[in-house]
Amino acid sequence: MTTTRRPTLLAWIGGLLASAALLTTMVARPTSADEGGEGDDPALDRARAEVKMLDALYKTAVVSITERYQRGQPAIMVAKDVFGAMDELGHHSARLVDASQAPLGEQTSPETDFERRAAEAMRRGESYVEEVAGEGPDRRLLAATVVPAVHRRCASCHGVEEGDLLGFIRYELPIR
Ligand code: HEC
Repeated sequence: MTTTRRPTLLAWIGGLLASAALLTTMVARPTSADEGGEGDDPALDRARAEVKMLDALYKTAVVSITERYQRGQPAIMVAKDVFGAMDELGHHSARLVDASQAPLGEQTSPETDFERRAAEAMRRGESYVEEVAGEGPDRRLLAATVVPAVHRRCASCHGVEEGDLLGFIRYELPIR
């Protein structure tokens, strides 16, 4: 999988720092007609803001670990521990999913319909995908934010070029 983009850390995180205008052009929003944009649904806006914050936090941590600890286990091992703890504590669910179709992990291929749709969208060049699932108090925001090989170490361990698409972080959190 080759892209011409060579994203910086900020551009990578910035994939999600999209405005309402950009959000409306993003794929996989099944009911955009009644969901509306920013402002119409404050609970949805709060969930989106939480995803933005988490995305910046996780990605900054993963890249920092990759840069500062040049040997040993990949940063994803730490990310997986943190994802697990957040899920167990009932805060949110997050998972690193492959979109390259050549995953290093045995359990990182897309598993759900949303993850499959998000992987396809990332391969088409999207950097953010979201869907709203459930009704009323069970409403949940499903979001996927792109993860390219943003550092030379990512590229060399994954056997791709710097900047190539590796996958995405899939978030699921309650809308409340
Ligand atoms: C030292 C080797 C190594 C480095 C460096 C590394 N990774 Fe990985 N990466 C792995 C391994 C191993 C897995 C599978 C982990 C698992 O599922 O248990 C993985 C999994 C992933 C996945 C899920 C898809 C897949 O291939 O299974 C993504 C996305 C990913 N890494 C992104 C990155 C990014 C971004 C960086 C750089 C910031 C990076 N990796 C650096 C080894 C590495």
